[in-house]
Amino acid sequence: MTRYKKQDPEITRRKFINVAMGTGAGVGVLSLVSALGSAKPAFRLTPEKAPPIKGDILVHASADKEGQPIRVSELSEQGVSAWPMGKDKDGNNVIRKGEPNNQLSVFRFDRDRFKVPEDGDHAHVVLELDGITAEGIVVYSGICTHAGCPVPNDPNDATKLFCGCHSGQYDLLQGCKVIGGPPPRSMPQVPVELKGEQLVLKDTFVTAPFGFLNEADWETYLEQVKEILG
Ligand code: FES
Repeated sequence: MTRYKKQDPEITRRKFINVAMGTGAGVGVLSLVSALGSAKPAFRLTPEKAPPIKGDILVHASADKEGQPIRVSELSEQGVSAWPMGKDKDGNNVIRKGEPNNQLSVFRFDRDRFKVPEDGDHAHVVLELDGITAEGIVVYSGICTHAGCPVPNDPNDATKLFCGCHSGQYDLLQGCKVIGGPPPRSMPQVPVELKGEQLVLKDTFVTAPFGFLNEADWETYLEQVKEILG
């Protein structure tokens, strides 16, 4: 069972306000999201645009292998680009690439290198270490929580993510917490488990991805997803 503890929502709210007041380029985006509420209208939801769903498998996102299941033996610290793939109501495979936040990166590290972050400035939700890794495998969104830029792995340090838009930095070994720049919260993580060589999702994003004001906004959206897609 995935175990996690939530951060105080009041702290979350204050953090958002601080970020919105203290950053440059992010202010416009965040203000717009603030004015609109959630930036993800659920009424337009299709299986392709749904967030990752428990039971989805991870498939390659690269053009030469797109749609092929990712195998554990292909993983390393360098990261592999992935999409979640599930089924539609007719049982057909659906790659959920209609939602930008679903651009995922999958990494594999020696488990001993992971650290549970303790400074309280990393995420709205902190997963216990045993709940988030499957044989040292971690899966994160590849979309920056600040203003939604795609974030590649850092070529100079395979343990970090660096967002080139406004120099945001995340630590892959500490729950992808923010270690530099303006991102307001850690990169959202997707817990996985192994079924044979395949990677299967145990849950959706455990923290709010880009485009959502806070965890409550994200949870409301997930309820709508459940109602619409069943
Ligand atoms: S989009 Fe601004 S730091 Fe990533």
